[in-house]
Amino acid sequence: MTAVRALLLLGVVASTAICLSVDGGIAADGVTEPATPRSRNHPLNEIWSGKRYASETARALHDVSGENPANGVMADGSLLWRRTAGEEKKSCQSCHNKPSFSMRSAGTKYPRYYKPWKKLMTLGQRINRCRTAYMRAKPWPEGSKSLISMTTFVRHQSRKTPVRPQSDGRANPFFKRGELAYRTRIGQSNMSCANCHETYQNKRLGAQTLSQGQSNGFPTYNLGLGAVSTLHQQFQRCNARVGAEPLPLGSEAYVNLELYLSWRGQGLPVETPAVRD
Ligand code: HEC
Ligand code: HEC
Repeated sequence: MTAVRALLLLGVVASTAICLSVDGGIAADGVTEPATPRSRNHPLNEIWSGKRYASETARALHDVSGENPANGVMADGSLLWRRTAGEEKKSCQSCHNKPSFSMRSAGTKYPRYYKPWKKLMTLGQRINRCRTAYMRAKPWPEGSKSLISMTTFVRHQSRKTPVRPQSDGRANPFFKRGELAYRTRIGQSNMSCANCHETYQNKRLGAQTLSQGQSNGFPTYNLGLGAVSTLHQQFQRCNARVGAEPLPLGSEAYVNLELYLSWRGQGLPVETPAVRD
């Protein structure tokens, strides 16, 4: 075999080893290679994960399995998955069995339109819906340790799978509201999300480099906080940064914003639990 032929063969082996996305294209990792927007009117030419802008320490902790500081939180989620609760005396496992199978796409499609509510539902709200409707157990409060652990555990099952939000049809009015909120200037500094995460993207702000503000890594282990943080907690911090009043976790305005963010990050792989500075 000639050297050229051997190289070609190696190339084939290497490219088939790359993870394939749902529509058959090569899934970009968003760190060495950007995801490409498919939707018309998308504000970004290249879609990059926050991991690209994170420190080497954060990235290394994320990459080495067994070193992720969110592992304890995930272990709690795994315990809760098997624990019976509520009047039905059921666990998540009773109905959903193996999470690696039943939850493998759950982390890619929320928030989504939920007919009975006539509005969007987040992954955390979906989990609580199973608790109240199917287990007859109390819902876990927004921001509680149990809900964060379970959401992290469930979304982790979709790790490396590209985000594919549904923003048309009945979800569209909510999507539009999220988009408007993203581009509206607020707070004492009179700044919008887009000001920092589009206009000043890649620029330094204090010790940090401004990323595109993507949501694919949430819930995320935040090294500065020394804790796992949900996306809505991140919204609260970013609101406070510009002197705007933070909204309650799980509030409709935050859920709509979450859908817009997920559309804006279309094609990025789920990284949960990501590690950030
Ligand atoms: C008695 C059965 C039952 C139990 C117990 C149950 N679920 Fe569910 N779950 C369902 C059904 C049925 C659906 C399908 C959605 C629907 O129409 O309600 C579902 C849907 C889901 C989804 C959405 C999956 C997707 O791909 O969109 C998630 C996430 C989920 N459940 C998580 C949980 C978790 C976490 C627990 C434990 C706290 C749990 N469920 C307990 C029956 C159950
Ligand atoms: C004054 C600048 C500023 C504004 C305005 C701002 N943010 Fe941020 N945001 C930051 C900084 C700094 C970080 C941490 C570094 C990074 O990832 O950019 C951050 C991080 C994030 C992250 C986490 C990204 C990741 O990969 O972990 C998300 C999501 C986010 N912001 C969303 C928003 C949203 C939504 C708004 C509007 C409500 C907003 N930000 C407004 C400065 C800002």
